[in-house]
Amino acid sequence: MRAYYYDNLPGDQRLPHDYIPSRPVSLDTLSSLGVKFWTIPVEGHEAEIDRIAGVEGYKNRDTINVSKEGLGELYETKIKGFFEEHMHEDEEIRYILSGSGFFDVRETPTDAWIRIGVEPGDLLVIPEGIYHRFTLDEADNIKALRLFKDEPKWVPYNRSEETEVNPHRVEYLKSIGA
Ligand SMILES: [Fe+2]
Repeated sequence: MRAYYYDNLPGDQRLPHDYIPSRPVSLDTLSSLGVKFWTIPVEGHEAEIDRIAGVEGYKNRDTINVSKEGLGELYETKIKGFFEEHMHEDEEIRYILSGSGFFDVRETPTDAWIRIGVEPGDLLVIPEGIYHRFTLDEADNIKALRLFKDEPKWVPYNRSEETEVNPHRVEYLKSIGA
């Protein structure tokens, strides 16, 4: 995993968008935004994932595979959709099995984008209520476990005046002391 401020320059969303020089973001900063992170080697990951899932109460899981090949004609539409700024009313929990990609999360109070580059072995928890988005990188494929506290549901609410007053958003801001 590598986290840094997104450069906000126009161009392909799948490019790194790293400032030159890079402006790295620490795990402490991510933690202060409620983003949790673990590294678990993919080889033999099952037991450790089970352990964390037990502690954190992640009862359900499934596997997703996002690739240019797999999506075919839907590819362009899909990756644009993932890249719409949104929030959820649940945590978004992803364990990367293969491939790579970028999760961008909004920093509070700056509203800056922090880009989190994930790779195999990364377990990332994006808290409910935080604004974020996802994109594949130029390798165009990622396979990940999705873990859920409750029934697998994953409804995106695009950022709007309505999400600003969503109780999960309000609760999130309170939880980080904003
Ligand atoms: Fe999401």
